[in-house]
Amino acid sequence: MKDLITIRDLSRSQIDHMIELALSMKKDGVYPQMGSKKVASLFFENSTRTRLSSETAAMNLGCLVNGFAGEEGTSVKKGEPLLDTARMLEAYDYNLMVMRHSLEGAARAIAEQVKIPVVNGGDGSNSHPTQTLLDLMTIKEYHGTIDGLKIGLIGDLRYGRTAHSLLHALEHFNVEVYLISPKGLDMPKWRIDDYEERSKRTPKLLRQLDTAIPELDVLYVTRIQRERFAQGIDGEVEFSKVAGKFRVDCELLKKAKTWLSVLHPLPRDKFNLEIAMEVDHTPHARYIEQARNGLFMRQAILSLLLRNDLSTEREIPISHGPKLKARAIPNGVKSGRRMIYRLSHGTVIDHIPAGLGMQVYQNLKLAGISDAEVLVALGISSESMGSKDVIAVHGQNLSVDQVYRLGLISEKLTINRIENERVVEKYHIELPSLIEGIVQCGNVKCITRPEHREFIKTKFFSEKDRNNQPMLRCYYCEQLFERGQLELV
Ligand code: NCD
Repeated sequence: MKDLITIRDLSRSQIDHMIELALSMKKDGVYPQMGSKKVASLFFENSTRTRLSSETAAMNLGCLVNGFAGEEGTSVKKGEPLLDTARMLEAYDYNLMVMRHSLEGAARAIAEQVKIPVVNGGDGSNSHPTQTLLDLMTIKEYHGTIDGLKIGLIGDLRYGRTAHSLLHALEHFNVEVYLISPKGLDMPKWRIDDYEERSKRTPKLLRQLDTAIPELDVLYVTRIQRERFAQGIDGEVEFSKVAGKFRVDCELLKKAKTWLSVLHPLPRDKFNLEIAMEVDHTPHARYIEQARNGLFMRQAILSLLLRNDLSTEREIPISHGPKLKARAIPNGVKSGRRMIYRLSHGTVIDHIPAGLGMQVYQNLKLAGISDAEVLVALGISSESMGSKDVIAVHGQNLSVDQVYRLGLISEKLTINRIENERVVEKYHIELPSLIEGIVQCGNVKCITRPEHREFIKTKFFSEKDRNNQPMLRCYYCEQLFERGQLELV
């Protein structure tokens, strides 16, 4: 594995190995020397700990470090695409880059385009893998184990990337997870679904901390991510509804187990103080040690990547195009009241979910075909679907691109090829494992969205959800979508 982009790329044994390596570096105070390798630190977004600990880690390994903190003073301000900025580092013979960006999937997009290792230091609300590794290291160091613990994540679970990555990492451990958030800042449903699917456990969803606090071994507090709320008055109003909602103070901690550790990725927000300053002096407070562990964990990560010593166990699918699954043809010719149009030659797209007929018509660009007659029938009664739309295209077979597009709309669709008024072939469309450049990501913060003008072609992996329904996962922002939910490009 060349890069560290998301915690999901790591297996349990890789996570354990990285924790052990970081703990041993901390204990022994001995760090491998990487011989003047050059590390670039590209922080497009604000940072204190991630940037400084990564840079210090690189220096401790004997690397040379250069980069920037914030877009001010860089050509980003002149409108430079992210890809160009990143390519420069490769051109200047850097050996690795650590980057943080506000768009989700930014680190993945860069990692795909450059040959040197990329470490994701945070991509919008999506992911923060190095933070999660240091969080786990801190839990392991203090409690001696991660398995068997009751771990509460509290605060901004909607926008907080540290909570997202930590939840996914905990899929590998035998823990009980409590998700405690104010209304409006809940953990996204698709992330909980992923957690349940992979861990076969269900997290407890709570609105209050006081009932949960006596049960917990670890309390992971997060800041309300003010910068992720909408700009302007609407965002201000939303923020004021949730700001200061939870506060961990000494009074509350009286109800906690003596060994409860309070963690926080930091910074805390001095205007709302999700952890009161007085807590710093209690044995519960682990967040300063946690931040210190960031140095050792990042030394471990950088040394592994610079030596190309991090293997991957994740398979990345490759594209084979859409698969057509032949269906039985009942009797070739249909007659009676459901017959809407008798075609001599052409294609009938049947079982379009009612209401999507016109969308299909437009997406397939059927309006532009001059010598074909196209008939769109809406709201036809159907035994299997109740109501359906049907499109008949006279004298035309569908192109591969059109079949692809149909497959992305619904799995229920059938394509019927007609010759001499008979159905000669009938298909369902199965999505390929990789879908590139055809649908747009539904996440407005995803790096691939055209309005961000970063020119990253979309890439989706098809997956099955718990109910065996086909779903699409964006390779960049990692979000999961139902097919049919996404707009075609
Ligand atoms: C976090 C981040 O940037 O996501 N901080 C960090 O990296 N230590 C959390 C936050 O900003 O609230």
